[in-house]
Amino acid sequence: MGYILVCDDERSICTMLQIAFQNQGHRVETVTGGEQACRKIDSNLYDVVVTDVRMPVVTGMDVLQHARKVSPDTMVIIITAVDDSTAPIEALNAGAFYYIRKGPKLLEDVMTAANLAMDRSQLRQQNAAFKRDAALHNSLDNIIGESEPMRRLKQTIRTIAATASTVIISGESGTGKELVARAIHTCSPRSGDPFVSVNCGAFPETLLESELFGYVKGAFTGANSNKRGLFELANSGSIFLDEIGEMTLPMQVKLLRVLQERSVRPVGGGQEMPVDVRVIAATNRNLSQMVQEGQFREDLYYRLSVIPVEVPPLRARGEDVVLLANYFLKKFTVQMGRDVLRISPESLRTMKGYDWPGNVRVLENTIERAVAMSNEEELQIELPNSVPSSIPLAAGSGATGIALPQEGIDLERYIADVEKSLLQSALRRSNGVQTRAAELLHLSYRSFRHMMKKYDLN
Ligand SMILES: Nc1ncnc2c1ncn2[C@@H]1O[C@H](COP(=O)(O)OP(=O)(O)OP(=O)(O)O)[C@@H](O)[C@H]1O
Ligand SMILES: [Mg+2]
Repeated sequence: MGYILVCDDERSICTMLQIAFQNQGHRVETVTGGEQACRKIDSNLYDVVVTDVRMPVVTGMDVLQHARKVSPDTMVIIITAVDDSTAPIEALNAGAFYYIRKGPKLLEDVMTAANLAMDRSQLRQQNAAFKRDAALHNSLDNIIGESEPMRRLKQTIRTIAATASTVIISGESGTGKELVARAIHTCSPRSGDPFVSVNCGAFPETLLESELFGYVKGAFTGANSNKRGLFELANSGSIFLDEIGEMTLPMQVKLLRVLQERSVRPVGGGQEMPVDVRVIAATNRNLSQMVQEGQFREDLYYRLSVIPVEVPPLRARGEDVVLLANYFLKKFTVQMGRDVLRISPESLRTMKGYDWPGNVRVLENTIERAVAMSNEEELQIELPNSVPSSIPLAAGSGATGIALPQEGIDLERYIADVEKSLLQSALRRSNGVQTRAAELLHLSYRSFRHMMKKYDLN
């Protein structure tokens, strides 16, 4: 059901359209002069305005211009008895939704156009509502946490949001890096423009290049038309380069150029396109160590780390565990229509003491699973065995397995990382009691001590 204004100095036309619209269940108002129409448009949010062109003093074109200015979401349909070949073009150029010649089919034409217009305007409104919702969803308030490190983090986000500087967000997997990146964008003056997110680890090198910078027709087999890159799509907004540590060295050179020149060159094209994009990068790898090992370019590292932001692991903010757990409890009970009321006190206690490999993501999954399985008012939480998620998994690997990265992997080093990380987790979990840690890893005390030495842990 729509809200429609009809304006025509011929009263019979007003009446005819009014009856037809009312029969379809729409709300209709009619006026017989352009001036009245403008006053109505000032104070009501019409979906559609249908107006005659030729009226004394204030014409239909004036009404159209007025509507475009004060109520851009309102669709204007122009009807006219005059046969003038340039008028329709003028009206459409001025932003009319439709232009209709008065004739025997007037009623039918107006009804069709108005219904089209209402669909369009509803779609727009839904879109706007969706955008507002999404903005709210990504805002700072959705970063749960009142611990000291989280307070500081939120303060940092507020401060840096105002600038256009490049940001690098580091932190373990699942700590909320993407959430932080979105909040930086949403709190920034760029929030009305796109936030484009790219997982740099998800593409092989050549594909990543054409994704980021676009390509021109004929750049490679299969490039049948020009395509804009994500940098261009993010213009005047922000681009989020997730898993930047997975970018190959040649790609790093190209990215560095973009950051320096503030322009991109599409693959196969000579023309540089200037772009105004704020770059927010994230990684769960230790970039400075990668720099030392020659896996990450030092110049790019310094370019990116204008403002470094560190998202602390969940185990360093134990007091937030309870807040987050209750937040997710509410989220999933609402989502699943469950009436679980609380998490049992002893579950909360163990959760606070847990070392949370996999961080907030694992906490979220844990609560989701518990809510789905539980029939009780009080939720008992079973903590996951921390094996696969605690391992610094290679790019592209999901919870189901470990993917072999594009460039291959140093298996021995990788296994060593896994061993060391599990040893550390076991020690944390056992509060440093080595016999207990050895048990957790199903190792003899002797082997355990041997590995402690090997990895220089104490
Ligand atoms: N402080 C928080 N408050 C509410 N939800 C959070 C918070 N931190 C993380 N989450 C949620 O946890 C999940 C993981 O967060 P996110 O994807 O931002 O992590 P990440 O650091 O990007 O992880 P990865 O390194 O694996 O990509 C998301 O569903 C996110 O909404
Ligand atoms: Mg992420």
